[in-house]
Amino acid sequence: MFRERLNAAAEAIQSQFDAVLGALDPLPVVHAMAHATNGGKRLRGFMVLEGARLHGIDTSAAIWPATGIEALHAYSLVHDDLPCMDDDDLRRGAPTVHVKWDEATAVLAGDALQTLAFELVTHPDIGAGDVRADLAASLAKASGAQGMVLGQALDIAAETATTPLTLDEITRLQRGKTGALIEWSATAGARMAQADITPLQTYARALGLAFQIADDILDVESDAATMGKATGKDADAGKATFVSLLGMDEAKRRADDLVTQACDALSIYQAEADILRETARFVIARKY
Ligand code: IPE
Ligand code: IPE
Ligand code: MG
Ligand code: MG
Ligand code: MG
Repeated sequence: MFRERLNAAAEAIQSQFDAVLGALDPLPVVHAMAHATNGGKRLRGFMVLEGARLHGIDTSAAIWPATGIEALHAYSLVHDDLPCMDDDDLRRGAPTVHVKWDEATAVLAGDALQTLAFELVTHPDIGAGDVRADLAASLAKASGAQGMVLGQALDIAAETATTPLTLDEITRLQRGKTGALIEWSATAGARMAQADITPLQTYARALGLAFQIADDILDVESDAATMGKATGKDADAGKATFVSLLGMDEAKRRADDLVTQACDALSIYQAEADILRETARFVIARKY
């Protein structure tokens, strides 16, 4: 059930990208945007669709913010992979944008994916203007210097820090770099329904941390063929991660606890939220 729903969401999001990007001039930067938005687990878009379903919002409306968050996420990956950031050659099993094209194209494709995201989350099919404004304002906050960019900046700074980060500092870093977009994804459906976002926010805060712990564990335990991206890089780059601070066993325990916390936060939705509970379990059980 979970797998089928995740696959269906991934297909719907891909079709939406094909349509939206297919309507643009066939420039190298647009081809690079298509390349960067191809593949991936589509977990953020899936959370938007499932959060919307939970609040009675139709997929024909929710597909816009679902595709929008995947555009924003893709931008963050294109820039994360640049030589001045993590310097990665492989992403989703394919060459990164700066390798396949060049750095200027990667910077511009990232820029254009970021603005495309805002076009998508404010699409007229979503409905009322104040809902669309709320989606855009909350996404801006989640993406920028209080959210993802803050986390990325702390992540890069930690590489050259003279003392290791504390648990609180790593938590703040991860909350930004990964947590903020996951939180936006999980709460977008409640925002569309103008419902209380608190339960989903609590769910996503725990899930976001668990997600990044899983990413850090996989960086140590998995391989590039399975992950579609280089592994073993965090320790080499001196990244501050939960694994580097707590050790593998404690990091895994913590990820388990966080998934339990995430599931507990959904109690008011009862069985209706079972798919989001499965999503939380998938996040730490995943192999890629
Ligand atoms: C990878 O995110 C980057 C992180 C925030 C750790 P995902 O693991 O969701 O990447 P895709 O979208 O499936 O490729
Ligand atoms: C990237 O985190 C997070 C963002 C792109 C915001 P990582 O650098 O750990 O992601 P991977 O491991 O390259 O996917
Ligand atoms: Mg990084
Ligand atoms: Mg990286
Ligand atoms: Mg990583």
